[in-house]
Amino acid sequence: MSKSIYHVAPGGRLSGRLRVPGDKSISHRAVILGALAEGITAVEGLLEGADVLATIAAFRAMGVAMDGPQGGQLRIHGVGLHGLREPLAPLDCGNSGTAMRLLAGVLAGQSFASTLVGDASLHQRPMGRILTPLTAMGAQIRATDGRAPLHINGACLHGIHYVMPIASAQVKSAILLAGLYAEGESCVTEPAPTRDHSERMLAGFGYALRRQGSQACLRGGGRLQAQTLVVPADISSAAFFLLGASIAPGSDICLEGVGINPTRTGVIEILTRMGARIELTNLREVGGEPVADIRVRSAPLQGIRIPRHLVPLAIDEFPAIFIAAACATGETIIEGAAELRVKESDRIAVMTAGLKALGVDIAEHPEGARIRGGSLGGGIIASHGDHRVAMAFAMAGLAASQPIRIEDCANVATSFPDFPRLAREAGLALQVLEA
Ligand code: S3P
Repeated sequence: MSKSIYHVAPGGRLSGRLRVPGDKSISHRAVILGALAEGITAVEGLLEGADVLATIAAFRAMGVAMDGPQGGQLRIHGVGLHGLREPLAPLDCGNSGTAMRLLAGVLAGQSFASTLVGDASLHQRPMGRILTPLTAMGAQIRATDGRAPLHINGACLHGIHYVMPIASAQVKSAILLAGLYAEGESCVTEPAPTRDHSERMLAGFGYALRRQGSQACLRGGGRLQAQTLVVPADISSAAFFLLGASIAPGSDICLEGVGINPTRTGVIEILTRMGARIELTNLREVGGEPVADIRVRSAPLQGIRIPRHLVPLAIDEFPAIFIAAACATGETIIEGAAELRVKESDRIAVMTAGLKALGVDIAEHPEGARIRGGSLGGGIIASHGDHRVAMAFAMAGLAASQPIRIEDCANVATSFPDFPRLAREAGLALQVLEA
């Protein structure tokens, strides 16, 4: 794979109306449930990023026919819960933790064996968190030290009542997907609210699901009915523009049709508490998910202590939040965010190193960081192949006094292939160089 480098000239402001691509979490789930449903599922607004393409390729390799994706449209010829075929080769999840953990839930209950592999980053990420509950359901999965590759022997599963030790939507979803194949009832209880796209979409596909407080339960043996689905724009991709417009004086942008599911809006709440000028308009519901247009104008930001309960609701947006904190006056404290260490990179370490390279006063803690806002210089940033780190530092250029060069940016294509073009059109002085 080529190793793109981003070069961002300092300054500028963001303006205009734009639509960021479809939500990554919802797109994965649309492909998975569409493949397992009976009939043709038509999806609009699908993210055509590498992560979702990996999920599409996995189901094609198991005999599911799909037309597209093209222009965000995908038609999935569902094979029903028991219609998948044994894949001839390992299924490659690329950089995607969501693909690997959700697929593991589906594959655990099949009547065939399969292997899940991924890239070097994914092979470093913890899989024990799904192996424990899936094994307790009867799954037969072999890993190495709790890491991929995952060798799965399809098995007869039984229901489980599982209290998750960590707040993870991927773990919750893996259990619910395995629960579709399990005898009896499977229930998952979460220690704090996490994104609930699986629950909403299962209900949309006509599957009976019981939700009570922090618990979601379903019984195996039902059926999924194909449907049409519209995927909202991804708030996690919008977050870079919320950041950029907030920190670049004179900015005024509108992001159209962004998903504002309350389990995902922590970034809006955190930036607003820091003083950001964010307005939601045209609120509506699309495909079972709340959506709005988001207007952001620049505003001076102040440092805050980020409330712990907001961490899981903004878990993917911390790279952007670190940059916002670096541009704010005063101190920002991030705590209770140890999960950031096991994302596409160790985001606490990588963001700390990057901000230090730009001259920011930041101290890393085991579960977070303390950031003293001030001015941003320029420098060279190692993104460690982490798409969100790369995009966050690209936006930092708007507030920097010198150019920023960001290395290893090819993985931006996992979630936001069009980021350089959209960011340039909005006003960021970004150039992509191929190394
Ligand atoms: C996701 C859940 C979150 C998030 C990831 C997508 C999902 O991961 O960070 O980008 O689609 O379920 P965890 O479940 O590990 O918190």
